[in-house]
Amino acid sequence: MAKRPITLLWIAIAWLATAGAQETQLDAFTGLKMSGDWELVRNNCIACHSPRLITQQRGSEAQWLNMIRWMQAKQNLWEFDPLTEGKIIAYLAENYPPEASRRRAAIPPDLMPPNPFAPPTIQHDE
Ligand code: HEC
Repeated sequence: MAKRPITLLWIAIAWLATAGAQETQLDAFTGLKMSGDWELVRNNCIACHSPRLITQQRGSEAQWLNMIRWMQAKQNLWEFDPLTEGKIIAYLAENYPPEASRRRAAIPPDLMPPNPFAPPTIQHDE
């Protein structure tokens, strides 16, 4: 009887430990999010450069397609069959979508210090 609360405690701890692990796992080698067709990206996209170039980039489907077209035109990236290309683009746009701007809002001009590089104001004596 006295053991039951302890058993329940262990179940609760185990549940909490797995609840946090629901986020998409990252592949240990490439850092790519392991969801959907991620292996197509691993197989086709890391031969020439670090996978970091991919995971640090963000884009819509059109933007990812543009990057692929640019690499095909300028960097010897091979052609994909349309099905494979569609899956690669869908994976990239879903897992590395455009983000809201990461920059902070500009400081209002009245809160800025005087500009030391401002051109001198010319005094007109009349
Ligand atoms: C045949 C070689 C090659 C392959 C394969 C390749 N790339 Fe690239 N990629 C390049 C080169 C070269 C650059 C320019 C690297 C640099 O600027 O240092 C580049 C740059 C990039 C960039 C940065 C673009 C930018 O605007 O800064 C991204 C993102 C990228 N590649 C994604 C991918 C993806 C996704 C794939 C798979 C579909 C892929 N690459 C496959 C050669 C390749």
